[in-house]
Amino acid sequence: MPSGDFIHVLFFGDLVGKPGRKAVERYLQNLLPQEKPDVIIANGENATHGFGLIERHYRELTEMGIHVITGGNHTWDRKEIVDYIDTVDNLLRPDNVPATLPGTGCRVFDFGSFKIGVINLIGQVFMGNYNSPWERLEMLVNQVKKETPVIFLDFHAEATAEKIALAHHCTSLGVSAMVGTHTHVQTADERVLLNAMGQNQMGFITDAGFNGAYNSVIGMDIDSSMLRLKSMLPARLEVALTHTLQVNAVQFKINPETGQCSTVQRISKRLEPLLCNPLDNPDKAE
Ligand SMILES: [Fe+2]
Ligand SMILES: [Fe+2]
Repeated sequence: MPSGDFIHVLFFGDLVGKPGRKAVERYLQNLLPQEKPDVIIANGENATHGFGLIERHYRELTEMGIHVITGGNHTWDRKEIVDYIDTVDNLLRPDNVPATLPGTGCRVFDFGSFKIGVINLIGQVFMGNYNSPWERLEMLVNQVKKETPVIFLDFHAEATAEKIALAHHCTSLGVSAMVGTHTHVQTADERVLLNAMGQNQMGFITDAGFNGAYNSVIGMDIDSSMLRLKSMLPARLEVALTHTLQVNAVQFKINPETGQCSTVQRISKRLEPLLCNPLDNPDKAE
């Protein structure tokens, strides 16, 4: 059993390119032994140069200690994911997509002294023609509850109202923790939500933010982002390679017996450049 009677679940918002992978790696390397979370989850939809996740980078993330990687609308940007997503254990994609797509959006992970179910859904407002996340959620939660009361949801969505409304629905179902992802901007509304009966404590934040280049437009190069918006031409977006990095994460304290969350801690850090910076060579941006 983890320290005390609780488990600590650490979630990193979207990792954007190499700066995102390096920011998370540095953050995890610098944690003291007593600070190590029991479960580490990260959204990896932008981890390969801002778009998608190739298998080599999936391995890189799991080797640095991330236990579960979730996805979003950019999950399919690198075609090779279609070939490997069903061959690996720790990678999810949104569940509410056509069933013909490979991969899964819900899985229970066994940590020995406890289990955690992780669900990944995608929103419909300003996102595209995805299936209803509302219709899938109750079925998935009930499926996970057969194995564990500890349930974590990454809801990848644009609209804050859609995320907050779904969060209230989650409290009625007994979800332990829910994070929003996709906007790459961390919101300051972390809290423990209760259902209408004042029960089912669920940790929540509307958006966990992103990990990557600090001086950027949500992780992408400022000049190419401005050019694209000013010219309205489909200019190629590049990952920003500034040497100051940012870490955006959220940590939840959860009772593994009841699935109730008692504490939510928002993490937003700026990492100053190292003397020998791995981003120095732009040819190795990936
Ligand atoms: Fe993203
Ligand atoms: Fe996204």
